[in-house]
Amino acid sequence: MEIQTQLKQALQEIQEALLGVSTPNELADLKAKYLGKKGIVAEWMTAMKNLPNEEKPRFGQAVNEAKNQINDLLEAFRTQIEDRMVSDKLAKEALDVSLPGRVFPIGAKHLMNQVVEEVEDLFVGMGYTVKEGPEIEQDLYNFEMLNLPKSHPARDMQDTFYITEELLLRTHTSPVQIRTLLENGGKKPIKIICPGKVYRRDEDDMTHSHQFMQVEALVVDENVTLADLKGTLLMLARKMFGEDRQIRLRPSYFPFTEPSVEVDVSCYKCNGKGCPMCKNTGWIEILGAGMINNAVLDATGYDKTKYQGFALGVGVERLAILKYGIDDIRAFYTNDLRFNRQFK
Ligand code: DAH
Repeated sequence: MEIQTQLKQALQEIQEALLGVSTPNELADLKAKYLGKKGIVAEWMTAMKNLPNEEKPRFGQAVNEAKNQINDLLEAFRTQIEDRMVSDKLAKEALDVSLPGRVFPIGAKHLMNQVVEEVEDLFVGMGYTVKEGPEIEQDLYNFEMLNLPKSHPARDMQDTFYITEELLLRTHTSPVQIRTLLENGGKKPIKIICPGKVYRRDEDDMTHSHQFMQVEALVVDENVTLADLKGTLLMLARKMFGEDRQIRLRPSYFPFTEPSVEVDVSCYKCNGKGCPMCKNTGWIEILGAGMINNAVLDATGYDKTKYQGFALGVGVERLAILKYGIDDIRAFYTNDLRFNRQFK
């Protein structure tokens, strides 16, 4: 066969073969078949030796051209394969940044902590510091130094869990008052709030829990009056229940304060007109407070002729129940996530 025809045929074969080639290895095989040491082009070169001398140059030139063409063809194809592999890889590893991400479950603060922090924010803003104390407390601090000596009838209001005769689960956060007064040795002014858990021997029901939380505030300084207490109570009522709230003080009794007051806030549902929320009185009771009893100042070494003070104690659950319309105090403690999630 005429060499030109053979070359053309070879090129055509290669083009057809390339259709079936998809990997660099397959391409290398094809290259070896044509351009390798024992490949077709090499055979042609061998064949050239048997040609008459005058035909050799033309033949050789044709084979060379064919070799270059084959080489160009295969190289061009190699670039194509490599490009395709890269784009295949990119397609496979593509990140769809518009896909929604995985949702990480993020917890929320328990409603109790939210309410405590709300109260803390208000008081810290007025220059108070937050103080904590132990939940296992001495009878001395929980009762005696708060003007509730052993066998005082007012202890009945706060029956608790005794560990020994002298140790108990605190019934209120008021012993932190005593601890702080003692720490300050009868000298320095005091401005603290004490949030924390307290315990009472109550039967659990919709409105009672044997464990609950209080926040107490205590101020001791020179020239502290009931007017200061009243202003502070009004701030607290407005912070928790809205800027147009009013407060009302009713005389009350706590052994550790004198005078003592029960504090009502004007009903935030009916604005004082009377509704089921406030039992038609227009007022809702929120906390107890009073001026520090001289007996407490005496017991802790404060000079009652120089220092006065006030204190207030509020139930955190009660605040939350009123503010968020919760109907069962036990919801705070049973850890039903459906309840907790409502307050995210
Ligand atoms: N400790 C009281 C209670 O748990 C609440 C209370 C009333 C605290 C008057 C006070 C206060 O600091 O001044 O019932």
